[in-house]
Amino acid sequence: MKQTLFFASGNPAKAAEIRAVLPEQFELVTLAELGFHEEIEETGTTLEENAFIKAAYLHKRIGGLCIADDSGLEVVALHGRPGVLSARYAGTPSDDLANMVFLIKQLEGLSRQARFRTVIACILPDSTRYFFEGVITGHIADQIRGQFGFGYDPLFIPAGFDKTFGELDPAIKRANSHRTMAIMALVNFLVSQQ
Ligand code: IMP
Repeated sequence: MKQTLFFASGNPAKAAEIRAVLPEQFELVTLAELGFHEEIEETGTTLEENAFIKAAYLHKRIGGLCIADDSGLEVVALHGRPGVLSARYAGTPSDDLANMVFLIKQLEGLSRQARFRTVIACILPDSTRYFFEGVITGHIADQIRGQFGFGYDPLFIPAGFDKTFGELDPAIKRANSHRTMAIMALVNFLVSQQ
């Protein structure tokens, strides 16, 4: 019998990324598939807090093994910002292009070292909690380049490359991304628990 992971996200792209690396003894069930359609308010001040808030929302309602993720871009010269504020860096509503333009302005004359970070919170049926992290380092380009991906991808040049994620084949991002690393860490943990 498959072990079910309840995923506290309404983002089908994230669910697809997790399903792509989940061994076949697991199945992923999303908020929408459970009939939850309200947006979970992310009131935390860190990626860890927000990932936990989302996983706890679901765990409180249905129990079981619940997971959630939260990601952000962390720029060294900006002391880790935009970080947990990544989606709304230039204000609300969230606007990828406005965020990138704002970031380029903030970085004038500063070092452009940065990383993407994902945190996955996992709450087991007995309420014990675990966190898994994935990081990819790189730097911020001086202009927006490429069409692929989302968010800050057209500005992020991963270490070892000279193109942005917006320009590189999406398969390169899928194989190396912060999100994939965090998912793999979660999967290794779950397999070790079986
Ligand atoms: P989320 O919590 O994973 O939805 O990410 C919050 C925000 O971080 C997104 O709206 C993007 O602005 C940014 N972000 C997270 N992951 C990525 C990525 O893989 N590429 C580009 N931007 C990202």
